[in-house]
Amino acid sequence: MPVVGVIGGGQLARMMQPAAIALGVRLRVLAARTDESAAQVIPDVVLGAHDDPAAVAAFARGCDVVTFDHEHVPTPILQRLLDQGVPVRPGPNALIHAQDKAVMRERLSALGVPCPRWTHVTGAAEAAAFAAEVGWPFILKAARGGYDGKGVWRIEDADQLRDVVEGALARGVELIAEGLVPFARELSAQVARSPHGQAVAYPVVETVQRDGVCREVYAPAPGLGADRSAEAQRIALTIARELDVTGMLAVELFQTADGALSVNELAMRPHNSGHWSIDGAVTSQFENHLRAVLDLPLGAPTPHAPVAVMANVLGLDLPDVYPAYLHCMARDPGLKIHMYGKAVKPGRKIGHVTVLGSDFEDCVERATHAAAYLRGEIDE
Ligand SMILES: Nc1ncnc2c1ncn2[C@@H]1O[C@H](COP(=O)(O)OP(=O)(O)O)[C@@H](O)[C@H]1O
Ligand SMILES: [Mg+2]
Repeated sequence: MPVVGVIGGGQLARMMQPAAIALGVRLRVLAARTDESAAQVIPDVVLGAHDDPAAVAAFARGCDVVTFDHEHVPTPILQRLLDQGVPVRPGPNALIHAQDKAVMRERLSALGVPCPRWTHVTGAAEAAAFAAEVGWPFILKAARGGYDGKGVWRIEDADQLRDVVEGALARGVELIAEGLVPFARELSAQVARSPHGQAVAYPVVETVQRDGVCREVYAPAPGLGADRSAEAQRIALTIARELDVTGMLAVELFQTADGALSVNELAMRPHNSGHWSIDGAVTSQFENHLRAVLDLPLGAPTPHAPVAVMANVLGLDLPDVYPAYLHCMARDPGLKIHMYGKAVKPGRKIGHVTVLGSDFEDCVERATHAAAYLRGEIDE
């Protein structure tokens, strides 16, 4: 059976392991430390840095395909693997669009995919001219390296604009500016696509962000009409095909009050918006990611229940989660609790809870209660 090399030892690599076990394929993980989330559960751990060309090359030897749990591997390192005959999925020419928001905006605009108004930013005056066109407040973003809202600034005035631009330029951070989308909600459209070109689309979900961090996911997005849902899936399938994405693709979308969609950003790996599929779909995003990168036929993304709600467990200051964990299980045997084996730090994603059902409000109440309890935010 094939060996899939996963670069990055976080919770996404960890959650590939149950799927790999069931499929009978072997995972090998490139992790920075033995105590990382995935290194705890995947026996074949290679220690090394994802941006060290020699470490990545040594890791890839003996892998049938190399994939990722994050998008931070420099593309020249991946190109070298391809040159040595190691399949890399998604490939560097696709992955660059998940690494660099400027490259992504250029490409999606050229494809005619709806995006917010945007521009490159090389100085404060240029950004101020853009703001004069699109209106204040507006958004500045680091083109590369951001996550969980780090690297995204809502710019209210000229002073803040100067601070952010000068700070970024001093650190060598490339910026783009975007018009502030007055979205009513955020959606995510996930597809899996294989090198053969087979693709499957998951139900479009709603994601709820607080302080730039995903807190809850509602699958399917409540009240999203069949036409809008098909439109979002079509956008994701088009991007997957045109960018030649292999593996899972998540397209983060904004939806405004009139229903219109625009693309926020792309992730080419399993994504937080698809964790519900572990318990809630015939084929989880982790299984379909492995099938896709191995060029196996894809599994059905069909949901098991009318509603799935996922709530992230973020670290707060509950040092020992175990008593809370026990309490939640006792209180609600219908919960599916997933913990990532990560040390508790404020704001860090340490697990998630999924509830399946038919009543949306009930599922939201149960999932968010458990997540808040595990966090130590509430004690009853
Ligand atoms: N142009 C925009 N208009 C309004 N809100 C935005 C815009 N861009 C980003 N945001 C908000 O910031 C969050 C994080 O931005 P995103 O580009 O997805 O960065 P990250 O890489 O940190 O996930 C989004 O989920 C959204 O809530
Ligand atoms: Mg995002």
